Amino acid sequence: MCGIVGYIGPSQAPAILMDGLKRLEYRGYDSAGIAVHDGEKINMLKSKGKLINLEQKLEENPISGCLGIGHTRWATHGAPSDINSHPHISSDRLIAVVHNGIIENYLDIKEELIKKGYKFVSETDTETVAHLIDYYYKSGLGFLESVFKALEKIEGAYALGILCRDYPDTLIAARKNCPLVIGKGEGENFIASDIPAILHHTRNVYFLDDNEVAVIKADEIKIYDKNKNEVKKDIYKVKWDIDAAEKGGYEHFMIKEINEQPKIIQELVQRRIPENSHLIDMSGIKLKKADIEALSRIYIVACGTAYHAGLIGKSLIEKLTRIPVIADVASEFRYRDPVIDERTLLIVVSQSGETADTLEALRIAKRNNARVMAVVNAVGSSIAREADDVFYILAGPEISVASTKAFTAQVTAMEIIAVSMAMELGKLDSDKFNNIKSELYEIPSKISEILQKSYIEKQLAEKYSKAANVFFIGRGLDYIVSMEGSLKLKEIAYLHSEAYAAGELKHGPIAMIDENTLVIAVLTQEELFEKTLSNIKEVKARGAKVIAIALEGNESFAKEVDDVIFIPRTSWITAPLLAAVPVQLFAYYMAYCLGTDIDQPRNLAKSVTVE
Ligand code: G6P
Repeated sequence: MCGIVGYIGPSQAPAILMDGLKRLEYRGYDSAGIAVHDGEKINMLKSKGKLINLEQKLEENPISGCLGIGHTRWATHGAPSDINSHPHISSDRLIAVVHNGIIENYLDIKEELIKKGYKFVSETDTETVAHLIDYYYKSGLGFLESVFKALEKIEGAYALGILCRDYPDTLIAARKNCPLVIGKGEGENFIASDIPAILHHTRNVYFLDDNEVAVIKADEIKIYDKNKNEVKKDIYKVKWDIDAAEKGGYEHFMIKEINEQPKIIQELVQRRIPENSHLIDMSGIKLKKADIEALSRIYIVACGTAYHAGLIGKSLIEKLTRIPVIADVASEFRYRDPVIDERTLLIVVSQSGETADTLEALRIAKRNNARVMAVVNAVGSSIAREADDVFYILAGPEISVASTKAFTAQVTAMEIIAVSMAMELGKLDSDKFNNIKSELYEIPSKISEILQKSYIEKQLAEKYSKAANVFFIGRGLDYIVSMEGSLKLKEIAYLHSEAYAAGELKHGPIAMIDENTLVIAVLTQEELFEKTLSNIKEVKARGAKVIAIALEGNESFAKEVDDVIFIPRTSWITAPLLAAVPVQLFAYYMAYCLGTDIDQPRNLAKSVTVE
């Protein structure tokens, strides 16, 4: 989704802005621009397409100055074009703004401003903000007052970076329902929609909260709440390293992140279930036995890949605790008036902690007195801050738009949460706990084994790269892995693919199966193995090519399919953590063969901060 970076200090802003924007490329964008104050006036460059286009413009028409804002845009209002790119500037170049989010009432405001003589050049909602601040400023208010006045009027979501021609020493930032951090440097300060943009300049950040406005100078940061009272905030020290947000020798972030999974899961498991302990460390979760006993239902709500991790959580929690669990995508949950009360627990799962629909689901639950637990990667994100309980997966920054390491870390977290709840309720004896614990401890080395044989998925991708239609099938937890595999293939290889519960195929989709169809069958759930095998025979009989993902030891069925990827044996609970890896690798190599933009697939955004 859109990215923001801003700078004020002694150095030249354009280079810092361009570098910051490059580090935000992973969020997904279709155009970019910068505005720089040269001490007298605001100069601006914008370009449709990748940053290289903007770079070329900058080379041809250099601009300079020590204060600036930059933006990568993911089009919502108006197609990607030079004109619709941010920054947007008021008619006589007085006010320039970059904006993430959506101004919902922009048409009303635009109409009012047009009546007052304002001329609009773009189709965006953002241009309204520039003209509105301009209007208040020209009515006699100061820069900050004008921003406050404009924010009172606009409805919707925003992270804003704002410049005023008459204030060559001031950058103003504001936030509502869209993430924005302020980086505090030595004699220089930054703003960014996401930490990687500024991490090589500073590790000290303030997280702006909703309705806060910051007035940033080179050597001073003042933050105000919506009543214009100054607020004091604690600095958050970013602990992860900039290397974590760089490719480190891999060709793509996605394959780097796939390869990070053993280490991340190992750290997560060791942190939560220490080797010499019989207890689970549930730091961040204050939910006690009595709270769990009082629950009448649990909702697990998320979007995209995080939703699939949530579905695995649903199966495990329900199976181990016998508490009814309903999993839902956040964009549906928020509008379907779900039954929520003080005996409800909502678990939200989110890598970024900023997904607009998931955040709103959280707020709905809180308004209805439910307790909210968040399984989150991004420390200090909105979801983490608003939830009652937070389980951090600490997978480090995930840069590839298609989520991989966050997924397996979320699944690990859901397993630990399910086991911990079952233990609290006395529904899991110590033998079973010890078994699950040792299985979890073995997962990292088993994933490494799969990764060492990634040439298998590569060869299969080469063999099947012409496939036009792919079905993923499985039952139980294998069905959920199928959904994730299918999503990965759609996201990065742009291949038509569907995931079906294997037993449901015959109720319709089997009509589509012919010799041009590729079916990927996941069979790690031993008790459902024979059932899924029957479904494989059904599709084979109709000419489909079948790749199976199965546990070692089941070699005898290999003759029933065209190809098999064997993965190390493990329990039914931990099997999704292993089965996820071949589907990730297969999607990666398919995309590779097809030559798509793997880390920044078309039309997608990493952090979806609009509904
Ligand atoms: C976007 C991303 C997906 C992600 C989903 C949910 O669609 O492209 O990779 O799974 O949002 O994001 P979250 O940050 O809430 O996990």
